[in-house]
Amino acid sequence: MTSSSSHPPQEHQKMPDTFADPAINKQAARTQDPGTDSTEILGAETQASETQVCETQIAESHTPGAPWNDDLVHWYVDNYGEHPINALAVELAVEFAGLNGSETLLDLGCGSGSAVRSAVSTNRANRVIGIDPSPAMIRIAREKTAKQSQDASPTSTSEFLLGGAEHIPLPDNSVDVVIAVNSFHHWPNPGKGLAEVARVLKHSGRLLLIEEIFEEQHRGMSAEEIIKQLDASAYNLKEFTRRPCVDIEVNVFFATPCGGNAL
Ligand SMILES: C[S@@+](CC[C@H](N)C(=O)[O-])C[C@H]1O[C@@H](n2cnc3c(N)ncnc32)[C@H](O)[C@@H]1O
Repeated sequence: MTSSSSHPPQEHQKMPDTFADPAINKQAARTQDPGTDSTEILGAETQASETQVCETQIAESHTPGAPWNDDLVHWYVDNYGEHPINALAVELAVEFAGLNGSETLLDLGCGSGSAVRSAVSTNRANRVIGIDPSPAMIRIAREKTAKQSQDASPTSTSEFLLGGAEHIPLPDNSVDVVIAVNSFHHWPNPGKGLAEVARVLKHSGRLLLIEEIFEEQHRGMSAEEIIKQLDASAYNLKEFTRRPCVDIEVNVFFATPCGGNAL
């Protein structure tokens, strides 16, 4: 997640112990806050990593194809885990992909599970699955979502599975809609990931990729690259648009596998 207001200035030359940006410094304050933050959930064994999060790591993590850096988990969850982009993604799945309350929704690269919780709390799908290759993210997602279930007793079911775009632990033809929110540019092999998505999608299945439009120093993946990749992976691009979301803007790609029968 980045914008001129939410990301620290780029400082590739030094590895700061603390950051000029107050959002990043929230990490230090957080250790005094006994709330349900990721530090509490993950336990002491991973706390050391959070002080090592630096601007260089953040920038590197946005390089197309760069693997997700798990040192960023605490930083990400505490600063962006509940960003409105997740609720927006679910609403875009309704708007573009026609997601209805009786379908199965997969959030691929679900992070700490905000979009899953949003889909459940708004009854936008019958079954909601979050998949992520980071065990830390999956652990936090389960903890946060268990709390939601206790508080609200939702009617939709949700579950979190360890996996990744290249190996989705679900059967063929089992999912109606896949969303991927700021995860596509981390997939090490986008072609293989898109083939896996096509495998798990039903014949009427739909895919929605949502990617933040990054400032130049946090490159992300350009819209052109994503559209080219969808085409090379035998997807029909049905819609491509740009949407504002609070402090950021996102590119939205709605596509269906060639040969599918989704409108
Ligand atoms: C920037 S975070 C976004 C998390 C969440 N979607 C959100 O918007 O809050 C990127 C996520 O992509 C996940 N990721 C990295 N490589 C992936 C892959 N090959 N397949 C699926 N997800 C991946 C990371 O573990 C991380 O949780």
